[in-house]
Order: sequence, then C-alpha cells, then structure tokens
Amino acid sequence: MSSSPSPSPSLLARTHTLLWALADPWLFMAISASWLPSTILTLLRNRELAILLSPSKLQGVWFGRFWGWAGPNIKLSREPMVISLLEGRTCGGRVVEEPTGNGIEGVVVEIGAGSGFWVDVFKERDLGKGEGKASSIDGQAVAGTGAGVVKRTSGVRGLVTRIYGVEPNREQHPSLRQKISEAGLEDVYEIVPVGIEDLDNPSKWDGKVEKGSVDCIVSILCLCSIPEPQKNFKELYGYLKKGGRWYVFEHVRAEGNWGIRIFQAFTNLFWPHFLGGCQLCRPTEKWLREAGPWDKVDVGQPPGEQWHHCVPHILGVFTK
Ligand SMILES: C[S@@+](CC[C@H](N)C(=O)[O-])C[C@H]1O[C@@H](n2cnc3c(N)ncnc32)[C@H](O)[C@@H]1O
Repeated sequence: MSSSPSPSPSLLARTHTLLWALADPWLFMAISASWLPSTILTLLRNRELAILLSPSKLQGVWFGRFWGWAGPNIKLSREPMVISLLEGRTCGGRVVEEPTGNGIEGVVVEIGAGSGFWVDVFKERDLGKGEGKASSIDGQAVAGTGAGVVKRTSGVRGLVTRIYGVEPNREQHPSLRQKISEAGLEDVYEIVPVGIEDLDNPSKWDGKVEKGSVDCIVSILCLCSIPEPQKNFKELYGYLKKGGRWYVFEHVRAEGNWGIRIFQAFTNLFWPHFLGGCQLCRPTEKWLREAGPWDKVDVGQPPGEQWHHCVPHILGVFTK
C-alpha cells in the first residue's frame, strides 16, 4: 500500500500561522461582541433609554467599554515602539538606536486621545535608568542603556510646551482627565472637546488652534476612525508650521498581497459595526502623502508584520 507524502512540518507550521493571521481580526470582533450584553444590561440598569434606543450612541458606549479593556493591552505591546517614534528614532518603520530626526517638541496636537491611554508617553522620560530611554540635556542628547550613558549628536525630544488632546467623545473625558492628572501634565495638556474638523472653530469650543501654529501632530491608532479622512488630513496639514512633523502609528489597508487585501475588504464589511466605526482598509499613508507637500517622509511597516498580517500598521514621521 502506498502512502501519500505528508506535508512537511514547515508547511504545516506556515499554514497554522496563516490561519491564525486570518482568524485574528475575527477573534478581535468576537471579543468586542462579548462586551455588548453587559453594556446593554448596564444601560438598562441605569435606565439610559436614550442611549439604548440610538444605535450610534449604543455603539459608542459599547466600543468605549471594549476599548477600555483592549486599549491598555495594545499599548503594553506597542509602547516602546511609540516612545521611539516620539523620540525621532525610527527609520522605514523600524525602531533604530540613533535618532534619524527630531522628536516631539513645542505645541503638539494629539488626535483622537480617547480615554488617555497614551497620555503618559508625553511625560518627560527618566533618563539613564531604563533600557534605551533617551532625551536631551543642555541641547546634547543622551541615551540611557542601563549600563551607562551614551552621547548622541542630535536632539531627541525638545520641550513640549502645550498639548491639545482632540477628543470629541465626551464619554471619554473623565478617564482622559484622570490620565492627564496621573501623568502630571495638567499645566500642559488641554482637552479639545470637538473633532479635528472644528479645531479652529471658537463657536464649537472655548479655544482655537491657529493654522500654521503647530509643531507636531501625533496620531496613534485613530485615523481609522475619523470622518472624511482625506479632507481632514489636508485640514490638519494646514495646522503644521513649516518644518512641523506628523508622527504616525496607524493600522492601514494591506498593500502587499491581493488575497489578503480581498480578505481584509471582506472583513471590513463587518469590522466597523463591531469596532465603533473603525475602518480597516484605509490607505492612510497615501492620503497623508497627498495631504500637502512634504519635505521628508520616513514611514514604513514595522518589522515582524508578515505578508499575511490582516491589520498591518505604518510607523513613521512626515515632515512639512
Ligand atoms: C480607536 S480610538 C483610539 C483612541 C486612542 N488613540 C487609543 O489608541 O487608545 C479612536 C478615537 O478617535 C476619536 N475620534 C473620532 N472622530 C474624531 C474626530 N473627528 N476628531 C478627533 N478624534 C476623533 C474617537 O472618539 C476615539 O476616541
């Protein structure tokens, strides 16, 4: 009796990895779905009928509760990468040891601040103690390696004088405010309670950000959720000073493999309903490039995300 050749372990292992990659966004949606019954029960218990009867409000509260669990977990794994980004230590989507450009400084706009999970990355970092932490002393930047201090030739982070945290969902503000206070940033960080489309509209909030006045824009996992992205990216471009920088860590449309791209588009038929309106297939890098003329663009997909990644990311800096 002849036996058919069994697939090699490496093929099995690769198939296994591929299947997990395809299942990944569906598992994420399933976890989000598991938060819906308790959200409805809580709203019923609190007699929040206006929210229960409005699909968009219910979706907002549901997503807020789910993200309260998911956000910190995502932050835990991505924080070192984001801190490097804000220190100007990325190149082509990779984290590098030496700065490739300046880090955040001056007037900063954080888009879609949410519940404030990322607020503490704006704190002054403690130097010379942690692994690979970096900052600037007397204009000369240094990096702490744990073993000693390594001198650097270019700046890492300058002084952040003001941070506008743009977050239109007021449900998130109490938590955002608490995170600002925990980070000791009350004097620096201001919550802007409107969408980016109303940043310069004093009739919508009691403040105004002038066009051409912003040194740095920071967007962390939020450009997937903002309305009219192409129009609003152009708007935001207008707020940056000449030489201003936009620091990006976002999930984007899959570009490499057509099969994955079709699978991602199919998944996106369901994804926004489970993830508070988040869009899986935005060509964010292309739209950012088209937002206006850039002096320098250094962006790429972080290493470790393979061709079958269904929620791929971009990491990098656009300089005006
Ligand atoms: C997926 S959440 C990410 C929040 C946060 N960046 C994080 O990673 O935890 C996207 C955020 O964008 C906000 N958002 C939606 N529309 C917006 C707009 N027009 N302008 C600014 N932020 C907006 C949402 O309210 C939400 O808090």
